[in-house]
Amino acid sequence: MHKIIVLNAKGGSGKTTISTNLAACYAAKGRFPALLDYDPQGSALNWLRTRSTDMPKIHGVEAHKKNMTVTRSWQMRMPKEVDRVIIDTPASIGGADLADYVRQADTIIVPVLPSPIDIHTVTSFIKEILVLGKLKTGPNAKRLGVVANRVKENTRVYNTLQAFLAGLNLPFITALRDSQYYIHAFVEGIGIHELRDVRVNSLTQQWQPLLDWIDEEITAPPQVASHRALDMVLD
Ligand SMILES: Nc1ncnc2c1ncn2[C@@H]1O[C@H](COP(=O)(O)OP(=O)(O)OP(=O)(O)O)[C@@H](O)[C@H]1O
Ligand SMILES: [Mg+2]
Repeated sequence: MHKIIVLNAKGGSGKTTISTNLAACYAAKGRFPALLDYDPQGSALNWLRTRSTDMPKIHGVEAHKKNMTVTRSWQMRMPKEVDRVIIDTPASIGGADLADYVRQADTIIVPVLPSPIDIHTVTSFIKEILVLGKLKTGPNAKRLGVVANRVKENTRVYNTLQAFLAGLNLPFITALRDSQYYIHAFVEGIGIHELRDVRVNSLTQQWQPLLDWIDEEITAPPQVASHRALDMVLD
């Protein structure tokens, strides 16, 4: 059971959008994903409640209500058929909570918006994750990938974001375009992969690098993060 956590302390970066679309995408591909909602706002589970019972199943866990820490208790609560666990987290996390999330996750996705404020705040956030996750050390190093969200290509701020991510030498997995289709899909309890409209093809293609990267993480041995990159980040 592979645990994928979507983290960014900054509100509104796309954690819930990425979590719900990833869950829906796996379900549409015949997997049985679980969606854990650690955000007291409960947006991810609200989305799941609106999902038609005809759609491929996603197991939902209202994790924020259970007064449980991020422990292996989540595994015990899972149906055994669940093969991917996607964890949506609240904004403003840090400290012990963040350490718990990072400790339990196999794969960490950090969505970031191409805005100067978000680029600035994500730097210290990623630094905190790298320290907590001890990504420098050995075969248990966890992988962290950055996904740019709500991108408008060829804007100056997107170019700044690309340069920033290249400078960190952390995996920049993909860029997801800003599109109303994400909002349409959300209100229907589906993901963009499940929208029946050829115009979403260019959007779903942007997810393929993320799906491939997660699969690599599952099938290939974990890689040791680049020391040069970490030294730069931790400066
Ligand atoms: N790629 C996108 N295109 C268009 N709208 C988007 C996209 N990604 C997210 N949004 C919209 O941006 C808003 C914030 O997204 P979302 O709720 O996923 O962020 P979040 O990080 O979960 O926020 P919070 O920290 O409050 O939980 C939502 O209204 C969502 O519909
Ligand atoms: Mg959210």
